[in-house]
Amino acid sequence: MSVGASAAQGKVQINEVGPRDGLQNQARILQPEQRLRLIEALVGAGLSAIEVGAFVSPKSVPCMAATDQVIAGLPAAAVNYSALIPNRKGYDMARASGIETVNLVVAASNTMNEKNIRMSTSEVMAISAEVIQQARSDQLCSQVYIATAWACPFEGAVPESVVIELAGQLLAQGVATIIIADTIGAADPAVVRSLMQELVKEYGTGQLSCHFHDTRGMGVANVYAAVEVGVRSFDASIGGLGGCPFAPGATGNVATEDVVLLLEQMGFITGINMKKLLQAVDLAAELTGSCQGGHASKWLRGQAEKGLL
Ligand code: COA
Ligand code: ZN
Repeated sequence: MSVGASAAQGKVQINEVGPRDGLQNQARILQPEQRLRLIEALVGAGLSAIEVGAFVSPKSVPCMAATDQVIAGLPAAAVNYSALIPNRKGYDMARASGIETVNLVVAASNTMNEKNIRMSTSEVMAISAEVIQQARSDQLCSQVYIATAWACPFEGAVPESVVIELAGQLLAQGVATIIIADTIGAADPAVVRSLMQELVKEYGTGQLSCHFHDTRGMGVANVYAAVEVGVRSFDASIGGLGGCPFAPGATGNVATEDVVLLLEQMGFITGINMKKLLQAVDLAAELTGSCQGGHASKWLRGQAEKGLL
């Protein structure tokens, strides 16, 4: 797929969030077996980390109901499956489901925490500390999303110092990974570079990941900015599906196929088979009726038709 001679660059981990972030805001509510068909296609395409659902109130997010049934049917594979949890009840449900990795959410802005999970930032940090501790004693892996890390739909620009401070507290509590999330897709490569450079300087690259939405078409540019400062783990969503029901203006995530194309063409290894990934995009489109595909869709389809993928 390379144009010229891109030097080998090492591995980048892609965490596919289509089955959670992608589906949570869809008009069409998929049944657990349909969600599992999508997950099976993603596993087949070589995704080695997948966020498969959320243990949240089914009244708040009907699309994520019955995540326990999805987890019960997951294909046995060497995949890091995770589920999002907003609170202690979510943790207990996740643990009972047998999932091995839980993803907490702490927004960097107080109003977003209130709107999303009805807690202040200090309340959610206190609960997170308890849950992270519990996960350690239960031998579950915990990750934390720092949501609205660059901009909040209610409070505007978020100071870097707030995110750096939250990340430090969470890492000190023993969380495995911090995922820095641009929940509404308002960041640009300059601010991504600036914040991620500071975080890498403070905490190294091993426990950092990024999550971008493509609202302003800068998702892939933001991935590049983060790669340039050493980040080697990214969330992405099949076909660019996604959006948060509680963050006005949030549109789809950066598309997995765009991120994989960017990285592989630059010489990084993602372990993902593009041809099979496109088949998973087709399935996502069929199931949701609303999957647009990434920016590179047309070109990638042309390559596939010529047998070049
Ligand atoms: N999973 C399922 N149900 C849950 C739950 C969870 N993690 N946490 C609470 N509930 C249930 C309660 O049992 C209660 O049910 P009932 O009405 O049948 O008695 C109801 O939700 C309300 O409980 P309460 O503790 O008062 O919660 P709340 O109304 O303050 O809502 C959340 C808090 C976190 C449950 C809710 O805001 C939520 O699910 N938000 C989703 C956030 C999300 O997914 N955002 C997108 C991704 S970042
Ligand atoms: Zn998101």
